[in-house]
Order: sequence, then structure tokens, then C-alpha cells
Amino acid sequence: MATLQTEAPDGAFPAVIVATPKCYLRPYDLRDAPAASAQANDAEVVRFLRDRFPHPYTLADSETFISSTLEAKPTLDFAIFATPGGEGSEAEFAGGMGLTPGRDVQSHTWELGYWVGQKFWGQGIATMAVRAFAPWAFRTFPELYRIEAEAYDMNFGSMRVLEKAGFTKDGVRRGAACKKGVVMDVHVYGLLRSEMDRLE
Ligand SMILES: CC(C)(COP(=O)(O)OP(=O)(O)OC[C@H]1O[C@@H](n2cnc3c(N)ncnc32)[C@H](O)[C@@H]1OP(=O)(O)O)[C@@H](O)C(=O)NCCC(=O)NCCS
Repeated sequence: MATLQTEAPDGAFPAVIVATPKCYLRPYDLRDAPAASAQANDAEVVRFLRDRFPHPYTLADSETFISSTLEAKPTLDFAIFATPGGEGSEAEFAGGMGLTPGRDVQSHTWELGYWVGQKFWGQGIATMAVRAFAPWAFRTFPELYRIEAEAYDMNFGSMRVLEKAGFTKDGVRRGAACKKGVVMDVHVYGLLRSEMDRLE
């Protein structure tokens, strides 16, 4: 059962961390839960994600996840909002993007994950979101040296997003993932702090 957190006294949503002409990112708010579960509850969205991303994706799943992001310090998961009318226009929940710090000798390497609801695909939202979010992450977290992302075999959309966002394909971990009994290669992409100028 999700622990519901109360909204800010003035009812304001959390501040935007990065804005692009097509989308912006901000920390989640529990009021995002219905829209988030509506977009996330899609077999096509979950197809190339980790199994910890549930399917079906219920409102309770959404509330539980958002509550966990509100408790996390620092906040590392963010909601993506599409702004089809351009920056400052009316926004609609479109997906999520987050970072997971590595451990031990890889604690300076953080894994980037993201998803966009199917109705927003092909509009350049993921590309713009990654291109804006990665420099924000390097600026915000001085200990971060490498952002890493993994795309499973056949996830050509995500590979393209990463390439367009300046990431380098460092290699392929053959047969490293198994989803629904299907073994897949994992394509590993990385962006180093020193490569930030590719994005700005
Ligand atoms: C992958 C995903 C994030 C792409 O989001 P998006 O907002 O549609 O991406 P963009 O619109 O920025 O597209 C970027 C590029 O990828 C291409 N692309 C998108 N989907 C594609 C597909 N299925 N096959 C081939 N190319 C694709 C676009 O044409 C574009 O390239 P172009 O500018 O050269 O034409 C989205 O499809 C998604 O959320 N999928 C499910 C979850 C997922 O796979 N997350 C990533 C895990 S690593």
C-alpha cells in the first residue's frame, strides 16, 4: 500500500529542473499518478524495460513508485512533460527519466533510464529530454563522471536517442539480458563528463 504524501501547502507542483522546446522535466508529484499509470500501462512501453517496471501498471504501482521518489535523497527520478505548444505552453505527462548510482569502484558511473508514453513517440521528446537532462546531472552531481545507458537488442529507438544525445556505444554484452524467456544482447552506451560539450 502506497504511503500518500501531502502536497505542498500552496498546492504548487515541484520546480522544473530542465526545459526544452518540446518537453520539461520536474520531480514527480503524487497528483501525477493517474496520468503516469495511464501512460506506463502499455506492453509496448514495458517491452524493453527491466522487469521491475511492472505490467500491468496500476494506479497503486504508480503511487508506490512516486512515493519512493519523494522519499529518495537526492531526488534522482523525474517526470517528463510534453509541451506540444512550445516552452511555457500547456503540458501533459509524457514519461519518466531517472538515474541509478553505481556501486563500489563504479560509484562514479550512474545508469540512465527513461521511457515515453506511446502517444508521444517519434516527436523527439526522449532525445531532447536526454540532451537536457545529462548536462543537468553532471552540473548537479559533481561526483558523477560517467552516465551509462543500456539498450536491449532491437530497441533501435533508444539506441538512436542515445546516439543523437552524444553517447558513445562502448560495446555489446552478448546475451546478457533475458526478458519473458527471450535472451537479448545489451548495447552499452556511455557519456563522460568531459564530453558534455557535445550537448551544449
Ligand atoms: C525509446 C523511446 C524512449 C524513444 O522515445 P521517442 O520520444 O519516441 O524518441 P525520439 O522521438 O526522440 O526519437 C529519436 C530517434 O529514434 C528514432 N526512433 C524512434 N523509435 C524508433 C524505432 N522503433 N525504430 C527505429 N527508430 C526509432 C526516431 O526516428 C528518431 O530518429 P531520427 O530523428 O533520426 O528520425 C520510446 O520509444 C520508449 O519509451 N520506448 C519504451 C521504453 C524504452 O525502450 N526505454 C528505453 C530503455 S533503454
